[in-house]
Amino acid sequence: MAVQISPSILSADFSRLADEATRVEGVADWLHVDVMDNHFVPNLTLGLPIVESLLKTTSLPIDCHLMIESPDRWAPSYAEAGAGSVTIHAEAAKAPVRTLRAIRSAGARSGFALNPATPVDYYEDLLPEIDMLLVMTVEPGFGGQKFLDVVLPKLSRARALIEKYGGEVWLQVDGGVSAETIERCAEAGADVFVAGSAVYGAEDAAKAVRDLRALAAAAQQA
Ligand code: DX5
Ligand code: ZN
Repeated sequence: MAVQISPSILSADFSRLADEATRVEGVADWLHVDVMDNHFVPNLTLGLPIVESLLKTTSLPIDCHLMIESPDRWAPSYAEAGAGSVTIHAEAAKAPVRTLRAIRSAGARSGFALNPATPVDYYEDLLPEIDMLLVMTVEPGFGGQKFLDVVLPKLSRARALIEKYGGEVWLQVDGGVSAETIERCAEAGADVFVAGSAVYGAEDAAKAVRDLRALAAAAQQA
């Protein structure tokens, strides 16, 4: 399992997004973009026009995390725009099979996210439709929140389910991932790590990405 790091621009300077993306180019695997609509979550961030602009300026593939009320309506457009991965939330999607398939048909990887209180076992039959399962380790909506240890057993169960289906689905964690918590996530089976404040709150964002990757890789091998 290769470790992948996906810095979240939620903690970046929104007035200089292109420059902020550049800070992690060459070291990060993805650029994580949090789309929030002030309905599914209380916060409001950005939408398709800004993702389209970012796609023109960064060489990193974009990992779109849609925290919106109507992912069935909007997710395919992010994939058609060129996002490399588009993640919808279990709690918001009304037709997840159709939407996950639409994301794939538009050429992106299909992502499926679970809030901390949403069980993973319930969605086992959906795994063949999913390229990346996102297990949230905070309640979605804001950067800089405290990591929820309570989610770790679910992360391990998610890894076991993924292995049962051949091990090809990526397992992403998002929320409170830092040098203090990333090893526990890796040990529980995560292989794609989103980090907002731990990367963009650091003086040297590229170094923060490299350090996180080294910690996760070492923990995977332990
Ligand atoms: C939270 C977002 C995260 C956020 C994580 O709802 O989905 O991607 O940027 O921020 P940190 O890493 O600071 O917890
Ligand atoms: Zn996110």
